[in-house]
Amino acid sequence: MATFSNIGAICKVPSTHSLSSSSRRALFPTLRSYNYSQISRSRSCRLGIRSSYAEAVRENPNSGAIDIEADVKTERIVVIGGSGFVGSAICKAAVSKGIEVISLSRSGRPSYSGSWVDQVTWMTGDVFYANWDEVLPGATAVVSTLGGFGSDEQMQRINGEANVVAVNAAKDYGIPKFILISVHDYNLPSFLLQSGYFTGKRKAESEVCSKFPNSGVVLRPAFIYGKRKVNGFEIPLDLIGEPLEKLLRATESFTKPLNSLPASDLVLAPPVSVDDVAYAAINAVKDDDCFGIFTIDQIKEAAKGAKV
Ligand SMILES: NC(=O)c1ccc[n+]([C@@H]2O[C@H](COP(=O)([O-])OP(=O)(O)OC[C@H]3O[C@@H](n4cnc5c(N)ncnc54)[C@H](OP(=O)(O)O)[C@@H]3O)[C@@H](O)[C@H]2O)c1
Repeated sequence: MATFSNIGAICKVPSTHSLSSSSRRALFPTLRSYNYSQISRSRSCRLGIRSSYAEAVRENPNSGAIDIEADVKTERIVVIGGSGFVGSAICKAAVSKGIEVISLSRSGRPSYSGSWVDQVTWMTGDVFYANWDEVLPGATAVVSTLGGFGSDEQMQRINGEANVVAVNAAKDYGIPKFILISVHDYNLPSFLLQSGYFTGKRKAESEVCSKFPNSGVVLRPAFIYGKRKVNGFEIPLDLIGEPLEKLLRATESFTKPLNSLPASDLVLAPPVSVDDVAYAAINAVKDDDCFGIFTIDQIKEAAKGAKV
């Protein structure tokens, strides 16, 4: 089975000079082949633009007017789980970038309001029984935030099988790009990675890798902080996550020797803000040259690219 384990993130980044040495190793620009027949069908609309030169020469019938045709990309993304914590941040960031957004989740439209909420098309459905004809046609990318906890079997199903279903639906409908929100492995010993949560995640990653080898993106964040909405209440995870991220970043050079200890990342992996995860996903949506597995540091770098 194909696996992402040896594939680093490949992406155009604003400037390699601003990257840490570890980021520089894994993030590098590349040229790659792309299925342009798909792109031209769903990613671009052709606009006829008459140049000022053409206006000037119109008076002179001997010199033919020049019509310029420009390709202008229009993005339309489907966020599976757009009503969730990470999914809603992705929807909000996408709307702010002028991207058309469709969310699919069992609960559909969230109960809270906001101008960006009104700009998302909220569809209600379970990924296992979705009518993809209503969801996928015309999409330029699918972003899956499917995942969760429960019994081993439940975790296999929601982290693994549910994402496999979504990846295959996207592939069948010729969607050019698939972006999966996965998880950091916390440097855990292999026997702990046998839980349904991690085996499900890795199964989903493998499916993205094999079905979207040149465009699939896997983001592997550790703990994600932000304001999580639960039953009408807001849990300010950023009150813990943000200072913890700053502390861990500030002490990185001292704690580095501990990184080789099994499970050390349970304490040392820096949390990531939900906005960084969202903008890293948006960067992946917009950048055709971006694919592969993104580590925590690479998620932060990619987010910078999309925020500007
Ligand atoms: N939060 C973190 O700290 C963290 C850290 C690392 C990785 N991650 C990963 O990031 C992803 C998103 O996490 P999150 O915290 O945003 O989770 P979340 O808030 O629980 O969001 C999950 C979304 O998936 C939808 N969903 C679940 N089952 C579905 C189904 N069968 N069909 C359609 N939609 C379904 C949920 O909506 P409905 O229930 O209404 O269907 C919800 O919108 C997960 O894969 C998680 O493992 C999270």
